Amino acid sequence: MCGIVGYLGKNKAVPVLLAGLHALEYRGYDSAGLAVFDKENVICEKAVGTVTALEDKLVGKKEIGDGLGIAHTRWATHGGVTEINAHPHTDCSNNIYLAHNGIIENYKELREKLNEGRHQFKSETDTEVIAHLIEKIKNENENIPLEEAVRLALGRVQGTYGLVVIDKREPEKIVAARNFSPLIFGLGQDEFIIASDATPIMKFTNKVIYLNDGEIATITPAGYRIQTIEKEVIKRKPEELDWDLESAEKGTFANFMLKEINEEPEAVRNSIRGRINLEEGKAVLGGLADVKEELRNINRLHICACGSAYLAGKVGAYMLEEYAGVPVEIEFGSEMRYRKLIFEKNDVFLAISQSGETADTLASLYEAKEKEILTLGIVNAIGSTASRETDAGVYQHIGPEVAVAATKSFVSQVSILALLTLFLGRKKNMSLVMGQRIAGELQRLPALMDKILTQQDLIKELAEKYSGYDNFLYLGRKYNYPIALEGALKIKEIAYVHAEGYASGEMKHGPIALVDKKFPSIVIVPRDSVYEKNVSNMEELKARGGPVMAVATEGDKDIKQIADDVIYIPKTLEMLTPILSVVPLHLFAYYVAVKRGLNVDRPRNLAKSVTVE
Ligand code: AGP
Repeated sequence: MCGIVGYLGKNKAVPVLLAGLHALEYRGYDSAGLAVFDKENVICEKAVGTVTALEDKLVGKKEIGDGLGIAHTRWATHGGVTEINAHPHTDCSNNIYLAHNGIIENYKELREKLNEGRHQFKSETDTEVIAHLIEKIKNENENIPLEEAVRLALGRVQGTYGLVVIDKREPEKIVAARNFSPLIFGLGQDEFIIASDATPIMKFTNKVIYLNDGEIATITPAGYRIQTIEKEVIKRKPEELDWDLESAEKGTFANFMLKEINEEPEAVRNSIRGRINLEEGKAVLGGLADVKEELRNINRLHICACGSAYLAGKVGAYMLEEYAGVPVEIEFGSEMRYRKLIFEKNDVFLAISQSGETADTLASLYEAKEKEILTLGIVNAIGSTASRETDAGVYQHIGPEVAVAATKSFVSQVSILALLTLFLGRKKNMSLVMGQRIAGELQRLPALMDKILTQQDLIKELAEKYSGYDNFLYLGRKYNYPIALEGALKIKEIAYVHAEGYASGEMKHGPIALVDKKFPSIVIVPRDSVYEKNVSNMEELKARGGPVMAVATEGDKDIKQIADDVIYIPKTLEMLTPILSVVPLHLFAYYVAVKRGLNVDRPRNLAKSVTVE
């Protein structure tokens, strides 16, 4: 996903902007650029490829420029990956420089009209039309300030944007605007830093201001002003970032993904901390306190999410139905938004999103708000759109997840769904004893996860043993069916290996035709209510010569008679096994990717937060 950085302050802008772009690299991108004031001029450099390629073009120039500039990492949507399509984009006269994240949906008609006005376009992008629109408005309205020209221009734009704009003729000003693509700015000591997320800001300050959709900020050395696109002045106090820098650094780990897998026990600890009342077998969810009466009468829960967040929700659906007696619908954000949503009285909508900015999830959330049903969120990024647009919710409190692949956020989301199951179940028919059992087991989980992490060498060996295969079948039942899907997703997205997650019971309805000695299967087969069924599936696989690796419960010696390889996980409640069984699958995918020499933190074609539809 594109990344934006802007700086206005006492230091040289170039080093700050480059450091900010590096901090945003994890979002995924394919080119980069920056524009900085240098006395009355603006110097603009762009490069295809990495931020380092941009730095190479600035060798000997890092001291250029003053203390004002903007920068961008581009994840191509409209127009190929070329230097001319990299941001910042300019107007005809090279006065206006603009960096944008999002999609301008009516850019074609705008471009045609501007062409009629003899505007010369340089790039194939949608973004460039905004720069020319601002130029047109400035040409038609003498002495109009940049922020007013931006406001008028955006009034003609349909689509999504997070953008920063500077103008050669107004050398001490940055204008920032947001509509569905996140933008926040940090208030440092005589300096401001604007960015698409908090990561580049943390080293400067923990005082931040989140822009809302339809808002425009004007930043000058004198301070900042916020107005809406309808010219309403907004007074907004800074918030405190609760993320600190070291939690965003790699520490002693080779990369963020390995760090974040090893943080999975801590992530669960942080997500459940202070939220369990063991004596009463209840969950204490302060973020839901204001809506507990509505939740007591809940009729059905509609879960909406994407990717791994969706799969966490799928685990939660089993929990909520079995232990809270709450019917659950779950759908991908990209599907739910186009379905005819049928909400009944006392239905509740739940968005699950680590970033809180996933466009498809947000679009469905807005649909649900239109239907005026109660909306909840399980979100990690504090102050993100999903956290602000839902009526109530539960923060994950796991710090930044920097690697593109979701790992610690997944186990955190499942543990919060277990808390939600407790929260709702104890308001309905769940007994004190059952509540205490779930609560007690939930508290034990982090220690059990720590134990699994002591097997990293074994898992690494197995990954190397299986790393030559081009296909995998991941199989699981009931609570572990979503884990089969998550294990397959992980190895796809970071090792680029084709893998299908499947319900074990469905294997005989087709996929078993794929199985032979070149097509291994990974079966999640804990000692649970569907153990025997899973064992039968494993025997069917073996009978076709398929290699089988099992994720099984400690002490299960029988499984070794069937599986070629076994990774053991500790025993726990059936509903909580997914939080354990996923850990070896995250590590397995990680080590296969490492063996294949791939960039595990920034896998190709992917973005950390998919803020475009
Ligand atoms: C999973 O590893 C991916 N990073 C991706 O599928 C992600 O889970 C999905 O895009 C949802 O992101 P969100 O939780 O920020 O909404």
